[in-house]
Amino acid sequence: MKMTKYTLFTKTPIVFDSDCYIMAIESSCDETACAIVKNGRDVIANVVASQIKTHAKFGGVIPEIAAREHLEAINAVIDEAFKQSGLAPEKISAFAGTVGPGLVGCLLVGLNAAKTLALVYDKPFIGVNHLNAHLCGNYIDTDLEPPYIALLVSGGHTQIIDVKSFSEQTIIGETIDDAVGEAYDKVARLIGLPYPGGPVLDKLAKDGNPYAFKLPEAKVDGYNFSFSGLKTAVLRLVKSFDGKDLPVNDICASFQECVSSTLFKKVKKALEASGYRQVVIAGGVAANSEIRRKIFELEKDGYRVNAPLMKYCTDNAAMVASCAYFNTNTFDDVDVEVFSRA
Ligand code: KG4
Ligand code: ZN
Repeated sequence: MKMTKYTLFTKTPIVFDSDCYIMAIESSCDETACAIVKNGRDVIANVVASQIKTHAKFGGVIPEIAAREHLEAINAVIDEAFKQSGLAPEKISAFAGTVGPGLVGCLLVGLNAAKTLALVYDKPFIGVNHLNAHLCGNYIDTDLEPPYIALLVSGGHTQIIDVKSFSEQTIIGETIDDAVGEAYDKVARLIGLPYPGGPVLDKLAKDGNPYAFKLPEAKVDGYNFSFSGLKTAVLRLVKSFDGKDLPVNDICASFQECVSSTLFKKVKKALEASGYRQVVIAGGVAANSEIRRKIFELEKDGYRVNAPLMKYCTDNAAMVASCAYFNTNTFDDVDVEVFSRA
Protein backbone atom coordinates (compact mmCIF):
# COMPACT_ATOMS: atom_id res chain seq x y z
CA MET A 1 0.00 0.00 0.00
CA LYS A 2 1.87 3.07 -1.22
CA MET A 3 0.15 6.42 -1.06
CA THR A 4 1.46 9.91 -0.36
CA LYS A 5 -0.29 12.50 1.81
CA TYR A 6 1.05 15.97 2.64
CA THR A 7 1.42 17.74 5.97
CA LEU A 8 -0.72 20.84 6.38
CA PHE A 9 1.84 23.63 6.80
CA THR A 10 5.17 22.47 5.45
CA LYS A 11 3.65 20.19 2.75
CA THR A 12 6.10 17.45 3.68
CA PRO A 13 5.23 14.18 1.90
CA ILE A 14 4.27 11.28 4.17
CA VAL A 15 4.34 7.92 2.41
CA PHE A 16 1.77 5.42 3.63
CA ASP A 17 3.61 2.14 3.51
CA SER A 18 5.35 0.53 6.45
CA ASP A 19 5.18 2.05 9.92
CA CYS A 20 2.38 4.45 9.15
CA TYR A 21 0.53 5.36 12.35
CA ILE A 22 -2.85 7.02 11.97
CA MET A 23 -4.72 8.51 14.90
CA ALA A 24 -8.46 8.70 14.23
CA ILE A 25 -11.37 10.25 16.08
CA GLU A 26 -15.00 9.14 15.83
CA SER A 27 -17.94 11.07 17.32
CA SER A 28 -20.81 10.68 14.84
CA CYS A 29 -23.40 9.43 17.33
CA ASP A 30 -23.14 8.43 20.99
CA GLU A 31 -19.60 7.08 21.24
CA THR A 32 -16.55 9.31 21.69
CA ALA A 33 -13.69 7.25 20.32
CA CYS A 34 -10.01 7.63 19.52
CA ALA A 35 -7.64 5.00 18.14
CA ILE A 36 -4.16 4.62 16.69
CA VAL A 37 -3.74 2.02 13.96
CA LYS A 38 -0.50 0.93 12.31
CA ASN A 39 -0.61 0.31 8.54
CA GLY A 40 -4.39 0.09 8.53
CA ARG A 41 -4.52 -3.25 10.30
CA ASP A 42 -2.74 -3.28 13.67
CA VAL A 43 -4.54 -1.53 16.50
CA ILE A 44 -2.01 0.15 18.80
CA ALA A 45 -4.61 2.00 20.91
CA ASN A 46 -8.41 1.87 21.01
CA VAL A 47 -10.48 3.98 23.40
CA VAL A 48 -14.29 4.24 23.37
CA ALA A 49 -16.33 6.35 25.81
CA SER A 50 -19.95 5.29 25.44
CA GLN A 51 -22.91 7.51 26.29
CA ILE A 52 -25.42 4.66 26.23
CA LYS A 53 -26.27 5.07 29.92
CA THR A 54 -27.14 8.75 29.44
CA HIS A 55 -29.43 8.17 26.46
CA ALA A 56 -31.06 4.98 27.84
CA LYS A 57 -33.10 7.20 30.17
CA PHE A 58 -34.69 8.85 27.12
CA GLY A 59 -35.10 5.70 25.02
CA GLY A 60 -32.89 7.09 22.24
CA VAL A 61 -30.03 9.46 21.46
CA ILE A 62 -30.72 13.13 22.26
CA PRO A 63 -28.43 15.05 19.84
CA GLU A 64 -27.74 18.13 22.02
CA ILE A 65 -26.88 16.03 25.06
CA ALA A 66 -24.70 13.76 22.91
CA ALA A 67 -22.74 16.73 21.51
CA ARG A 68 -22.15 18.11 25.00
CA GLU A 69 -20.94 14.74 26.29
CA HIS A 70 -18.53 14.43 23.34
CA LEU A 71 -17.06 17.79 24.33
CA GLU A 72 -16.61 16.64 27.90
CA ALA A 73 -15.00 13.32 26.90
CA ILE A 74 -12.88 14.17 23.88
CA ASN A 75 -9.65 15.34 25.52
CA ALA A 76 -9.53 12.46 27.98
CA VAL A 77 -10.19 9.94 25.21
CA ILE A 78 -7.36 11.36 23.06
CA ASP A 79 -4.95 11.43 26.04
CA GLU A 80 -5.81 7.83 26.87
CA ALA A 81 -5.13 6.72 23.27
CA PHE A 82 -1.68 8.35 23.34
CA LYS A 83 -1.04 6.74 26.71
CA GLN A 84 -2.07 3.25 25.52
CA SER A 85 0.14 3.53 22.44
CA GLY A 86 3.19 4.91 24.20
CA LEU A 87 3.68 7.11 21.11
CA ALA A 88 4.49 10.80 21.13
CA PRO A 89 2.19 12.93 18.90
CA GLU A 90 5.15 13.66 16.61
CA LYS A 91 5.26 9.93 15.75
CA ILE A 92 1.76 10.00 14.30
CA SER A 93 1.81 10.00 10.47
CA ALA A 94 -1.67 11.56 9.99
CA PHE A 95 -4.78 12.53 11.94
CA ALA A 96 -8.20 11.37 10.73
CA GLY A 97 -11.77 12.18 11.75
CA THR A 98 -15.30 11.16 10.78
CA VAL A 99 -16.92 13.78 8.53
CA GLY A 100 -20.39 12.18 8.20
CA PRO A 101 -23.02 10.84 8.05
CA GLY A 102 -24.05 11.41 11.66
CA LEU A 103 -25.36 13.98 14.11
CA VAL A 104 -23.93 17.33 13.05
CA GLY A 105 -23.27 18.72 16.55
CA CYS A 106 -21.54 15.48 17.50
CA LEU A 107 -19.44 15.21 14.35
CA LEU A 108 -18.19 18.78 14.82
CA VAL A 109 -16.54 17.89 18.13
CA GLY A 110 -14.46 14.96 16.87
CA LEU A 111 -13.70 16.40 13.46
CA ASN A 112 -12.45 19.70 14.88
CA ALA A 113 -10.28 17.82 17.36
CA ALA A 114 -8.72 15.80 14.51
CA LYS A 115 -8.19 18.92 12.38
CA THR A 116 -6.62 20.75 15.32
CA LEU A 117 -4.19 17.92 16.04
CA ALA A 118 -3.18 17.84 12.36
CA LEU A 119 -2.61 21.61 12.36
CA VAL A 120 -0.72 21.69 15.65
CA TYR A 121 1.63 18.82 14.73
CA ASP A 122 1.83 19.74 11.02
CA LYS A 123 0.59 16.33 9.80
CA PRO A 124 -1.83 15.37 7.03
CA PHE A 125 -5.53 15.59 7.86
CA ILE A 126 -7.84 12.86 6.52
CA GLY A 127 -11.64 13.15 6.66
CA VAL A 128 -13.48 9.83 6.56
CA ASN A 129 -17.00 8.70 5.64
CA HIS A 130 -18.50 6.79 8.57
CA LEU A 131 -20.06 4.09 6.36
CA ASN A 132 -16.81 3.40 4.52
CA ALA A 133 -15.15 3.21 7.92
CA HIS A 134 -17.57 0.50 9.07
CA LEU A 135 -16.52 -1.63 6.08
CA CYS A 136 -12.86 -1.09 6.94
CA GLY A 137 -13.41 -2.62 10.38
CA ASN A 138 -12.93 -5.83 8.38
CA TYR A 139 -9.28 -5.01 7.59
CA ILE A 140 -8.30 -4.94 11.25
CA ASP A 141 -6.19 -7.96 12.19
CA THR A 142 -6.83 -9.64 8.82
CA ASP A 143 -5.25 -9.78 5.36
CA LEU A 144 -8.60 -9.18 3.65
CA GLU A 145 -8.51 -7.31 0.34
CA PRO A 146 -11.30 -6.45 -2.11
CA PRO A 147 -13.21 -7.51 -4.12
CA TYR A 148 -16.07 -8.64 -1.91
CA ILE A 149 -19.76 -8.15 -1.20
CA ALA A 150 -20.50 -6.32 2.06
CA LEU A 151 -23.62 -6.26 4.17
CA LEU A 152 -23.59 -3.00 6.12
CA VAL A 153 -26.16 -2.98 8.90
CA SER A 154 -26.26 -0.22 11.50
CA GLY A 155 -28.67 2.00 13.41
CA GLY A 156 -29.08 4.26 10.38
CA HIS A 157 -28.20 2.11 7.36
CA THR A 158 -28.89 -1.21 5.68
CA GLN A 159 -26.93 -1.67 2.50
CA ILE A 160 -25.48 -4.33 0.26
CA ILE A 161 -22.29 -2.97 -1.26
CA ASP A 162 -20.17 -4.21 -4.12
CA VAL A 163 -16.62 -3.40 -2.97
CA LYS A 164 -14.51 -3.64 -6.13
CA SER A 165 -11.34 -2.14 -4.72
CA PHE A 166 -10.21 -0.30 -1.57
CA SER A 167 -11.71 2.92 -2.90
CA GLU A 168 -14.36 1.79 -5.39
CA GLN A 169 -17.67 0.72 -3.95
CA THR A 170 -21.20 0.67 -5.29
CA ILE A 171 -24.32 0.41 -3.17
CA ILE A 172 -26.40 -2.22 -4.96
CA GLY A 173 -29.21 -2.48 -2.41
CA GLU A 174 -30.56 -0.58 0.58
CA THR A 175 -33.58 -0.19 2.79
CA ILE A 176 -36.48 1.80 1.45
CA ASP A 177 -37.67 2.67 4.98
CA ASP A 178 -36.28 1.62 8.39
CA ALA A 179 -32.68 0.51 8.87
CA VAL A 180 -32.19 -2.88 10.52
CA GLY A 181 -30.78 -1.39 13.75
CA GLU A 182 -33.67 1.06 13.85
CA ALA A 183 -36.15 -1.82 13.46
CA TYR A 184 -34.43 -3.70 16.30
CA ASP A 185 -34.54 -0.65 18.55
CA LYS A 186 -38.20 0.11 17.73
CA VAL A 187 -39.37 -3.47 18.23
CA ALA A 188 -37.39 -3.66 21.47
CA ARG A 189 -39.16 -0.55 22.70
CA LEU A 190 -42.56 -2.06 21.77
CA ILE A 191 -41.92 -4.97 24.07
CA GLY A 192 -40.56 -2.80 26.85
CA LEU A 193 -36.80 -3.40 26.48
CA PRO A 194 -34.24 -0.68 27.28
CA TYR A 195 -32.30 1.33 24.65
CA PRO A 196 -30.37 0.28 22.62
CA GLY A 197 -32.69 -2.64 22.05
CA GLY A 198 -30.63 -4.60 19.52
CA PRO A 199 -28.22 -6.39 21.87
CA VAL A 200 -30.94 -7.14 24.48
CA LEU A 201 -33.36 -8.45 21.87
CA ASP A 202 -30.59 -10.63 20.41
CA LYS A 203 -29.94 -12.13 23.86
CA LEU A 204 -33.62 -12.81 24.61
CA ALA A 205 -34.10 -14.39 21.18
CA LYS A 206 -31.64 -17.13 22.11
CA ASP A 207 -34.18 -18.60 24.55
CA GLY A 208 -37.13 -18.33 22.19
CA ASN A 209 -38.66 -20.34 19.36
CA PRO A 210 -37.83 -18.63 16.04
CA TYR A 211 -40.84 -20.28 14.39
CA ALA A 212 -43.39 -19.43 17.13
CA PHE A 213 -44.90 -16.61 15.08
CA LYS A 214 -44.94 -16.25 11.32
CA LEU A 215 -43.99 -12.65 10.61
CA PRO A 216 -44.24 -11.12 7.12
CA GLU A 217 -41.15 -10.84 4.94
CA ALA A 218 -41.41 -7.74 2.72
CA LYS A 219 -41.20 -8.39 -1.00
CA VAL A 220 -38.92 -5.70 -2.35
CA ASP A 221 -37.22 -5.59 -5.76
CA GLY A 222 -33.59 -6.48 -6.33
CA TYR A 223 -31.31 -6.18 -3.33
CA ASN A 224 -33.43 -3.60 -1.53
CA PHE A 225 -35.10 -4.08 1.86
CA SER A 226 -38.10 -2.86 3.82
CA PHE A 227 -38.56 -3.37 7.57
CA SER A 228 -41.40 -1.04 8.49
CA GLY A 229 -44.15 -3.61 7.72
CA LEU A 230 -42.43 -6.13 9.96
CA LYS A 231 -42.32 -3.60 12.79
CA THR A 232 -46.08 -2.98 12.38
CA ALA A 233 -46.71 -6.74 12.40
CA VAL A 234 -44.85 -7.05 15.71
CA LEU A 235 -46.89 -4.16 17.11
CA ARG A 236 -50.12 -5.96 16.13
CA LEU A 237 -48.84 -9.19 17.66
CA VAL A 238 -47.92 -7.46 20.93
CA LYS A 239 -51.36 -5.79 21.07
CA SER A 240 -53.09 -9.14 20.55
CA PHE A 241 -51.78 -10.24 23.96
CA ASP A 242 -53.49 -7.27 25.60
CA GLY A 243 -50.68 -6.82 28.12
CA LYS A 244 -51.01 -10.40 29.42
CA ASP A 245 -48.18 -12.97 29.50
CA LEU A 246 -46.29 -11.58 26.53
CA PRO A 247 -44.09 -14.41 25.15
CA VAL A 248 -41.09 -12.06 24.91
CA ASN A 249 -38.48 -14.67 24.00
CA ASP A 250 -40.61 -16.16 21.22
CA ILE A 251 -41.43 -12.73 19.78
CA CYS A 252 -37.72 -11.76 19.82
CA ALA A 253 -36.70 -15.05 18.22
CA SER A 254 -39.39 -14.85 15.51
CA PHE A 255 -38.48 -11.24 14.70
CA GLN A 256 -34.78 -12.10 14.60
CA GLU A 257 -35.44 -15.08 12.33
CA CYS A 258 -37.42 -12.96 9.89
CA VAL A 259 -34.79 -10.20 9.74
CA SER A 260 -31.78 -12.50 9.51
CA SER A 261 -33.25 -14.74 6.82
CA THR A 262 -34.26 -11.72 4.70
CA LEU A 263 -30.73 -10.31 4.94
CA PHE A 264 -29.16 -13.69 4.28
CA LYS A 265 -31.18 -14.40 1.11
CA LYS A 266 -30.34 -11.06 -0.48
CA VAL A 267 -26.66 -11.23 0.43
CA LYS A 268 -26.43 -14.72 -1.04
CA LYS A 269 -28.12 -13.58 -4.24
CA ALA A 270 -25.76 -10.58 -4.56
CA LEU A 271 -22.74 -12.75 -3.88
CA GLU A 272 -23.71 -15.31 -6.52
CA ALA A 273 -24.37 -12.57 -9.09
CA SER A 274 -21.01 -10.88 -8.38
CA GLY A 275 -18.88 -13.95 -8.89
CA TYR A 276 -16.77 -12.91 -5.88
CA ARG A 277 -15.59 -15.48 -3.36
CA GLN A 278 -15.62 -13.16 -0.34
CA VAL A 279 -18.35 -11.59 1.78
CA VAL A 280 -18.14 -9.38 4.87
CA ILE A 281 -20.57 -7.92 7.36
CA ALA A 282 -20.14 -4.56 9.06
CA GLY A 283 -21.91 -2.00 11.26
CA GLY A 284 -23.37 -2.18 14.75
CA VAL A 285 -25.93 -4.86 13.84
CA ALA A 286 -23.13 -7.09 12.53
CA ALA A 287 -22.69 -7.87 16.23
CA ASN A 288 -25.98 -9.81 16.02
CA SER A 289 -25.46 -13.49 16.76
CA GLU A 290 -28.03 -14.89 14.32
CA ILE A 291 -27.11 -12.63 11.41
CA ARG A 292 -23.46 -13.62 11.93
CA ARG A 293 -24.35 -17.32 12.18
CA LYS A 294 -26.35 -17.30 8.95
CA ILE A 295 -23.76 -15.35 6.94
CA PHE A 296 -20.94 -17.59 8.25
CA GLU A 297 -22.90 -20.59 6.92
CA LEU A 298 -21.67 -19.41 3.50
CA GLU A 299 -18.24 -20.77 4.45
CA LYS A 300 -19.68 -24.23 3.79
CA ASP A 301 -20.14 -23.18 0.16
CA GLY A 302 -16.46 -22.24 -0.02
CA TYR A 303 -16.81 -18.49 0.46
CA ARG A 304 -14.45 -16.51 2.67
CA VAL A 305 -16.60 -14.78 5.28
CA ASN A 306 -15.32 -11.98 7.48
CA ALA A 307 -16.87 -10.01 10.32
CA PRO A 308 -15.02 -7.60 12.59
CA LEU A 309 -14.60 -8.42 16.27
CA MET A 310 -17.62 -7.14 18.22
CA LYS A 311 -15.68 -4.08 19.44
CA TYR A 312 -14.94 -3.07 15.84
CA CYS A 313 -18.59 -3.60 14.74
CA THR A 314 -20.20 -0.90 16.86
CA ASP A 315 -18.91 2.67 16.52
CA ASN A 316 -15.16 2.93 17.16
CA ALA A 317 -12.22 4.91 15.82
CA ALA A 318 -9.98 2.01 14.80
CA MET A 319 -12.18 1.44 11.74
CA VAL A 320 -11.87 5.17 10.90
CA ALA A 321 -8.06 4.97 11.06
CA SER A 322 -8.09 1.88 8.86
CA CYS A 323 -10.30 3.67 6.34
CA ALA A 324 -7.99 6.70 6.34
CA TYR A 325 -5.14 4.35 5.46
CA PHE A 326 -6.79 2.19 2.78
CA ASN A 327 -9.47 4.30 1.17
CA THR A 328 -8.32 7.04 -1.17
CA ASN A 329 -11.88 8.37 -1.34
CA THR A 330 -11.31 10.64 1.63
CA PHE A 331 -11.92 14.31 2.44
CA ASP A 332 -8.40 15.62 2.94
CA ASP A 333 -9.23 19.33 2.88
CA VAL A 334 -8.98 20.82 6.35
CA ASP A 335 -11.94 23.08 5.45
CA VAL A 336 -14.27 20.10 4.85
CA GLU A 337 -17.65 20.50 6.59
CA VAL A 338 -19.54 17.81 8.48
CA PHE A 339 -22.63 16.27 6.85
CA SER A 340 -25.60 14.51 8.40
CA ARG A 341 -26.88 12.21 5.63
CA ALA A 342 -25.16 9.92 3.18
O1 KG4 B 1 -23.07 1.12 13.84
P1 KG4 B 1 -23.67 1.50 15.14
O2 KG4 B 1 -22.83 1.34 16.39
O3 KG4 B 1 -24.17 2.98 15.11
C1 KG4 B 1 -24.68 3.54 13.95
O4 KG4 B 1 -23.86 4.06 13.14
O5 KG4 B 1 -25.91 3.43 13.76
O6 KG4 B 1 -25.03 0.65 15.29
C2 KG4 B 1 -25.88 0.79 16.38
C3 KG4 B 1 -27.04 -0.14 16.18
C4 KG4 B 1 -28.17 0.05 17.21
O7 KG4 B 1 -29.40 0.13 16.50
C5 KG4 B 1 -28.09 -1.23 18.03
O8 KG4 B 1 -29.35 -1.62 18.57
C6 KG4 B 1 -27.60 -2.23 17.00
O9 KG4 B 1 -26.62 -1.52 16.29
N1 KG4 B 1 -27.01 -3.44 17.60
C7 KG4 B 1 -27.56 -4.67 17.47
C8 KG4 B 1 -26.74 -5.57 18.18
N2 KG4 B 1 -25.70 -4.86 18.74
C9 KG4 B 1 -25.88 -3.55 18.36
N3 KG4 B 1 -28.66 -5.08 16.80
C10 KG4 B 1 -28.96 -6.38 16.85
N4 KG4 B 1 -28.23 -7.30 17.54
C11 KG4 B 1 -27.12 -6.94 18.22
N5 KG4 B 1 -26.40 -7.87 18.88
ZN1 ZN C 1 -21.90 3.45 12.95
